[in-house]
Amino acid sequence: MLSVPGSNPRFLEKAQTLPADEVFLDLEDSVAPLAKDEARKNVVAALREGDWTGRTRAVRVNDLTTMWTYRDVIEVVEGAGEFLDCLILPKVQDPTEVIWLDTLLTQIEKAMGYEIGRIGIEAQIENARGLVNVDAIAGSSRRLETLVFGPADFMASINMRTLVVGEQPPGYVEGDAYHYILMRLLMAARMHDLQVIDGPYLQIKDVEGYRRVARRAAALGFDGKWVLHPLQVEAANEVFSPTQEDYDHAELILEAYEHYTTVERRGAVMLGDEMIDEASRKMALVVAAKGRAAGLSRTTSFTP
Ligand code: GLV
Ligand code: MG
Repeated sequence: MLSVPGSNPRFLEKAQTLPADEVFLDLEDSVAPLAKDEARKNVVAALREGDWTGRTRAVRVNDLTTMWTYRDVIEVVEGAGEFLDCLILPKVQDPTEVIWLDTLLTQIEKAMGYEIGRIGIEAQIENARGLVNVDAIAGSSRRLETLVFGPADFMASINMRTLVVGEQPPGYVEGDAYHYILMRLLMAARMHDLQVIDGPYLQIKDVEGYRRVARRAAALGFDGKWVLHPLQVEAANEVFSPTQEDYDHAELILEAYEHYTTVERRGAVMLGDEMIDEASRKMALVVAAKGRAAGLSRTTSFTP
């Protein structure tokens, strides 16, 4: 999920060449207050005129404590609603904020003659209140597609004692300071069949650091992570795709299980040294789906 400041036409141009699954054009924290008006115009033009083929197109509006949100939504959706897949609402603290956006979107869709309900919502969870209310937020609207973690704002909101986003705070030597937060988001997202995306890693030059932090979220089951730079795009695509070995293994389980349950009518069987059953099939489906989506192809096949 590639973040692009709406105030920077050069970046808006460059973003169209990067292999990200989703691009979001930002009107919020990467745009200076005095550049907000111009950024809206850039974003509308980039959506209308850019080539975003194959990518989910999103715009992050400003949060509801500001004076900008309603104008962001109206200008962007009236100006380029047919070229937009999702709006990202940042710093969401309770379900009423998502409901507000849902209602406003419906009004604009009616007024413009757009298909009602096509534009999705992604809710960014970036403070303690948002996290405590995350179950209700995740179930607040049928437009909601994704929960997104905002680690920088979140760390500020809870007074976490570090300035390095995503890294362990110095002095915290046991465990992972983000584990609870990530798990909390993951549970709320899965409960409501939403995607869940990890936020930015700001040490752009430290690609190994990016990989390390991204692996943490990928391992738990997150669907992706923000990227701010071409080097991070490459690392993210790698970290969030299964390895060739895991992909082959998953496809093998699916094929073997299909054979044993249908041809031999057995539900728990041995595949090499491993016992597989219906739950193994479900786990394999997750890995196989991610591998297929990443364009992997099999290098092994099953022989009974
Ligand atoms: C992103 O918005 C963050 O606050 O980390
Ligand atoms: Mg933020």
